[in-house]
Amino acid sequence: MKGIILAGGAGSRLYPLTLVASKQLQPVFDKPMVYYPLTTLIEHGIREFCLISTPKDLARFRDLFGDGSAWGVSFDYREQARPAGIAQAFLIAESFIGNSPVTLILGDNIFYGGDTFHRAFSEFQSGATIFGYQVHDPERYGVVEFDAQGRAFSIEEKPKQPRSDFAVPGLYLYDAEVVSIARNLEPSARGELEITDVNREYMRRGALRVYRLSRGFAWLDAGTTTSLHEASAYVQTIERRQGIKIGCPEEAAFRAGRISLAQLEHTVSRMPNCEYRLYLAGIIDEAKRGDLASK
Ligand code: TTP
Repeated sequence: MKGIILAGGAGSRLYPLTLVASKQLQPVFDKPMVYYPLTTLIEHGIREFCLISTPKDLARFRDLFGDGSAWGVSFDYREQARPAGIAQAFLIAESFIGNSPVTLILGDNIFYGGDTFHRAFSEFQSGATIFGYQVHDPERYGVVEFDAQGRAFSIEEKPKQPRSDFAVPGLYLYDAEVVSIARNLEPSARGELEITDVNREYMRRGALRVYRLSRGFAWLDAGTTTSLHEASAYVQTIERRQGIKIGCPEEAAFRAGRISLAQLEHTVSRMPNCEYRLYLAGIIDEAKRGDLASK
């Protein structure tokens, strides 16, 4: 499966922070926001990436990620001329997707915990897979409603009166059909190609699977100044308490077998002296001792 990281958008709710850098490059505690979704996809086996951002910001992502070889993955870069909707990503990345299934993750979504994603990625065969996560403010998102058997039977985009508390987070898995579905979409009233309309089309075809994310799972969307601050506080709390890092692509690439111990050592040797380097040096030591715990 290939992976798209969508990191464009206006980021207007983070103004004036976004005068300095795009939303997905803002710090979330100790790393750039986009490291978190990148790590999520590396953890789930994605090797080929397409990063989509604005004409203004794309160069910064290129500088940050390069060709991806430090993490044993590859990167294509594509521009989205203006924020014309999440589903436009499939048209922009059409030649990248080819005939492959593809997962799309939003560059400002942070996920942590549980094994539902592992199940979803390993069980995926065709159609579409999305998730439902209970939130207190579902009207801000796509909202999915379940029947008594737990099957999803309606999805609405930002409904004024949500039919459930289950929002659809920014991680989606699709078969290659998604390109032709996106091509046939009409822009919504707000002028965007809506990801919710893609999901509704899969639902209409009987090909949509929705996994509910459990109570203990964390989904943070760092798109407002408050949620950005909360995301930083959350990451700091977990990292300090457990002595682990969330959203560390070097670690994820190493644990997933994308890079060797020697490659990890090489990458770390080029980092300045900092807490991030110390953390990775600890992982290297553990691996050398042969007791790399499954943290
Ligand atoms: P939003 O949070 O809906 O939009 P935004 O980032 O433009 O922020 P604001 O509302 O504050 O102006 O977007 C969710 C994510 O999807 C975010 O990471 C940006 C990305 N996105 C794109 O890259 N292109 C698009 O056309 C849209 C609509 C969103």
